[in-house]
Amino acid sequence: MRGVKIPSAEAMLRAAKRLGALCEPGDVIGLRGELGAGKTVFVKGLAAGLGIDPTHVASPTFTLINEYRGGRIGLHHVDLYRLERPEELIELGLEEIVGGEGVCAIEWVDRFAGVAGADWLEVHIDFGPKTDRIVFVSPHGPRAQILSQKWDKRRH
Ligand SMILES: Nc1ncnc2c1ncn2[C@@H]1O[C@H](COP(=O)(O)OP(=O)(O)OP(=O)(O)O)[C@@H](O)[C@H]1O
Ligand SMILES: [Mg+2]
Repeated sequence: MRGVKIPSAEAMLRAAKRLGALCEPGDVIGLRGELGAGKTVFVKGLAAGLGIDPTHVASPTFTLINEYRGGRIGLHHVDLYRLERPEELIELGLEEIVGGEGVCAIEWVDRFAGVAGADWLEVHIDFGPKTDRIVFVSPHGPRAQILSQKWDKRRH
């Protein structure tokens, strides 16, 4: 799989904003990458692309889920880092959110199999040299396939 080099946080915001602009209700974006890779930066850009003020986007460290309104589509921002048991996913109501009307971005999506539902776009952020990040995109499902193709075209 080909990775795309993203040299700065600003470039990451721009790339994610282009994806956000293409998102439709019900789209699910699952983010993978180590601590500090840029998952939250990515969600800020995604928010901007949905017409949401990106300065409102903060790591949902204690709440686990943040909801941002006021954009073209609502955005749920989930962080599974601190989640310990799969039963907690039910308590969080994640199933309703993933199957719901808004766009859903899930940090640490790889911690629990199946958490992102049946059709979701995986964005894996890896560390490169200096401030470089390498982004690998994998669609899981037909809608994610379309979304990733559209996003890819916007890059050029
Ligand atoms: N190319 C880049 N892309 C994204 N972020 C970058 C890049 N270069 C430097 N950074 C910096 O890396 C940090 C990424 O932090 P961020 O909180 O987004 O990571 P995270 O993956 O969400 O971590 P966590 O697992 O703790 O939630 C930010 O301080 C950002 O400015
Ligand atoms: Mg984060």
